[in-house]
Amino acid sequence: MTYDFDTPIDRRETDSQKWQKYAGRDVLPLWVADMDFRSPPEVIAALHARVDHGVFGYARPVKATVEAVVEALEARHGWIIEPSWLVWLPGLVVGLNVAARAFTRAGEAVLCNTPVYPPFMTAPAHQDRQVITAPLALDSAAHRWEIDWDALERAVTPQTRLFFLCNPHNPVARVFRRDELGRLAEFCLRHRLLLCSDEIHCDLILDDLPHVPTGTLGGEIARRTITFIAPSKTYNLPGFGTSLAIIPDASLRAQFIRAAAGIVAEVNCLGYAACEAAYRHGEPWRRALLDYLCGNRDFLLDDTARALPGMRIEAPVEATYLAWFNVEALGLKDPVTHFENHGVGLSDGRHFGARPGTYLRLNFGCPRATLAEALARMQRALAGR
Ligand SMILES: Cc1ncc(COP(=O)(O)O)c(C=O)c1O
Repeated sequence: MTYDFDTPIDRRETDSQKWQKYAGRDVLPLWVADMDFRSPPEVIAALHARVDHGVFGYARPVKATVEAVVEALEARHGWIIEPSWLVWLPGLVVGLNVAARAFTRAGEAVLCNTPVYPPFMTAPAHQDRQVITAPLALDSAAHRWEIDWDALERAVTPQTRLFFLCNPHNPVARVFRRDELGRLAEFCLRHRLLLCSDEIHCDLILDDLPHVPTGTLGGEIARRTITFIAPSKTYNLPGFGTSLAIIPDASLRAQFIRAAAGIVAEVNCLGYAACEAAYRHGEPWRRALLDYLCGNRDFLLDDTARALPGMRIEAPVEATYLAWFNVEALGLKDPVTHFENHGVGLSDGRHFGARPGTYLRLNFGCPRATLAEALARMQRALAGR
């Protein structure tokens, strides 16, 4: 079966957060991380069937839904989990907030690397917990973003209880390797930190690299790891708010569930239907999507090198549909507004922990024609500085 990722689908005048931001303006939105593609046909069919049933009571996942998740983790990543380890959540950001609330007390801290997906920093702050950040280091010789181990050792404090890891990483698009994850596990155990691993992008690896779930590292760290996954990024389902925490240790799981009690909503019935269909039947579509995203990534890298002087993607985009641009050389005080004024909506690196004016994130999960038009506009924006 072939899938059409090329034909643009009009999302203006819909509930799309991404497109509503620029309603009434000719701005192509390449900011928030959803894609402008339809979900796999099998997911849409499963949703039709669920809607046709017509009864929408309080929902719980059926056995087949749980099995679809468990089987996908084993088939794709070799991770064998027990169904009882799963905690369903109406979104992964919710999970980050619940983890901060469950596993730290007032005055204690969560550590993470920056730049990073903004809720890694806002979730602890929402719970009145401290956030401690340690920057990733760009190794220009190796041409990749690295965990700066010295910076981590300097940053960690006796009050730190949790490490928030993003793997694959948003926004630098790194896939952390087994040796790096092993060293991180050793760091967490030595400092008595729980490791909270956000693996929402794990099925969006563009290069031939394995995703190593932190939960497969074995030994003590497997028991001290809380992993978050969701079908939302891969199959373009974030509007359903259906995500999962995987918590092997029973007492940590109970602590997490207690912290969520009464304030975290249930996942809805459509979310379960979409999730099951995506994990069970979505593999051919996912493979086609990855091919398309690789094409977009290569087009973007080529165009950047040729036509966007002063803008650099400093390391390989190994995963996700997000590119992290260094724009410091442009010397713009407010690069986001500059590009918006030329018809392209990007994410401000400032929200990810970068210095103002230094980085932008671009979402290339869109038809190639949209990307090409955005890049042409960006080229004009540079000429019009
Ligand atoms: C690393 C990461 N975690 C979580 C999320 C959001 O998850 P959810 O929509 O399930 O809250 C995103 C969305 O961009 C993300 O990139």
